[in-house]
Parts: sequence; C-alpha cells; structure tokens
Amino acid sequence: MLITKIYQPSEVKQAAKELTLGELIAFPTETVYGLGADATNEQAVKRVYLAKGRPSDNPLIVTVASREMVKQYTGELPEAAVKLMDKFWPGPLTMVFPIKDGSLPKAVTGGLKTAAFRCPANQLTRTLIAEAGVPLVGPSANSSGKPSPTTAQHVYHDLEGRIAGVLDDGPTSVGVESTILDMSSKQPTILRPGAVSPQEIAAVLGQEVISDKHHVGQNEVPKAPGMKYKHYAPAAQVLIVAQDKWDAALAWAKDHANSVGIMASPQVISRAPGLNTYDLGADVVTASQHLFAGLRYFDDQAEVKWILAPAYPEEGLGEAYMNRLKKAAGNQFFEA
Ligand code: TXA
Ligand code: MG
Repeated sequence: MLITKIYQPSEVKQAAKELTLGELIAFPTETVYGLGADATNEQAVKRVYLAKGRPSDNPLIVTVASREMVKQYTGELPEAAVKLMDKFWPGPLTMVFPIKDGSLPKAVTGGLKTAAFRCPANQLTRTLIAEAGVPLVGPSANSSGKPSPTTAQHVYHDLEGRIAGVLDDGPTSVGVESTILDMSSKQPTILRPGAVSPQEIAAVLGQEVISDKHHVGQNEVPKAPGMKYKHYAPAAQVLIVAQDKWDAALAWAKDHANSVGIMASPQVISRAPGLNTYDLGADVVTASQHLFAGLRYFDDQAEVKWILAPAYPEEGLGEAYMNRLKKAAGNQFFEA
C-alpha cells in the first residue's frame, strides 16, 4: 500500500516531482479535485483508471497550464477556440479538439481522434503543471460511482493508499465539473453542462450552440462517454423537492425522522427543527458548491434512506446543478 501524502501549497514542487516520476497526485481546481498523472506517460495514465476503478473506454480530460500546451497536440487553433480561450480560460470550460495522430496515449483518448482540454482557474495547479512540464490527465479524484470530491479530505477518503498524494488548496469554489464543449464538429456542441452556460458561449461565438442531450442513447457511442455511466448515486434515494413542495416534504420528513436527510437553504432548515439537515446555502451558487459534500455527508449515515434536495430553475449554473442532482436522484422528485 502506498502512503498518501497531503501536500501543502508550499510543497507544490515536490508534488510536481512525483508526477514526473509517474506517480498519481490529486490536484485542486475551481470545479472539483482532479486525479493527476503525466498525460504523456501511458503507464501512469493506466494507473489512474485502476485507482478510480473506472472503465477504461472512458477518455480523460487533458489538463494544461497554458494554451501553448494545447497546440503541441492540436496544431494551430481555430479562431473560435481562441476567442473562447480569451474569454473563459483559465476557467471551467473544457474544449474537445481533433488531435495529431498518436500525439497522446490511447489510454488518454480512449482511442478517439479527439481530446478534451481544460485550463483550470486554480493558480496552484497551473504552477504544478508548469513545474511538471507536461499536461496532466485530470478526471475527478473520486472512486468511480462516488460524488466528485470538492475537498482534499474527500479525495483522501476515497483514494488513500492508492495514490501518492493530494495537493490541498482548500474547498473548491464552483463545486460542479466544467462545461464540456465539442469543438471538433461544425456546430459547437455542449456535451456536459457546467458553470459556463450555452448562452455565454453563443455570445462570444456569435453562433448558436447546441446541447447534446441525446448522446447517451442505448446503442450509440456517446460523445462524452463518461455520461453513460451512473454517477454520484448514493446508497440512499435522493428526492428532488420543487420550491412549492417544501411544506409537504418537511411534514413527510417529520414522520420519518432519522431516515431522511434534508439538504436545503437556511430558510427551509429553520422550519425543520430537530431534523437531520445539511446547509446548502441560500442560492444555486452555494447549492452547487456544497451539493457533492452534502451527498457524501448523508452517504456516511447508514440510517439515512432518503435525501431531500432543492430544485433550482434550469438556467445558467442551475442547468449544471440540476444535471448532477437529477443523476444522483435517478430523476426522482418528491411527490406529496
Ligand atoms: O471540472 C472538470 O472537468 C473536472 C476537474 C477535475 O477538472 N474533471 C472531470 O473529468 O470532470 P472527468 O474525467 O471526470 O470527466 C471528463 C468527461 C467524461 O465524461 C469523458 O467522457 C469526457 O469528459 N471526454 C473526455 N475526452 C473526451 C473526448 N475526446 N470527446 C468527448 N468527451 C470526452
Ligand atoms: Mg467524474
């Protein structure tokens, strides 16, 4: 068993050294913690799949410190991509580009002729990548099937003994994974909603952006293969509560006391004295930040059979929040 070290920000150079030796180091981003390995080292990348327990046909995001790093694999970038990078990089927008044949290991691309590139807003991680001198693969640093980690402690909980270390930079700020935009076909297509919305992207491009909600069909190969696996499903049944259903939901929760975990705003929680609650803050920004931590909190309580969580309008960040919540809930809403 490996000893998993927690690296402080001042130890970023040591963490980078481990990466160049082919070890796995989890790193902070503004969205969720990523599981880093040298993306040019096929053996190291293969160990990422093993550590996560993730199916190996699922390609990994290539995390870079600069757009120059992307060009090594793509060649000159199209004008539209440059505009988007000017506006959103570093930040929570991942873009899929065609890559030069064989320029990245098959373990990274899953055999696709494209790769997904992301430049995180977290300065410490950009330093880590620059120090390592290579891009890092960066899937979320959870074990497969668990909610994505938003603190170094979540990573440690899931992967202790399986990775060399975690670079700790405190809790992440966005809380849900990046927007994935496919730039490899004629029409820019959103494969996964995130904090950067389709409207914001369309405004920069002066062109409509479509959201591919149907790429997870039964017999087709999904464009973002990760979308076909069940994600973030806790042992308890999550029920989404529409805004006007909280009275009924709280009455129901009172009858089931300890077996219901309630994730909600402070305003709702104040109406639930003595019940088992987790504060998601007052709006969709804080709810997104704390959603995964809340699911983990109740996942650790064996007596919790149901988890209630608030619905938000599916616009802007709300689209990403609801996308993750619906997956966790298997699309189930609380019905009075
Ligand atoms: O915010 C994030 O993006 C986080 C942080 C750590 O950076 N990373 C993350 O990575 O969510 P991961 O591996 O859990 O999700 C990557 C998604 C998967 O759904 C995968 O199928 C898709 O990106 N993907 C990777 N390469 C692709 C490609 N060439 N074409 C289409 N989808 C791709
Ligand atoms: Mg993930």
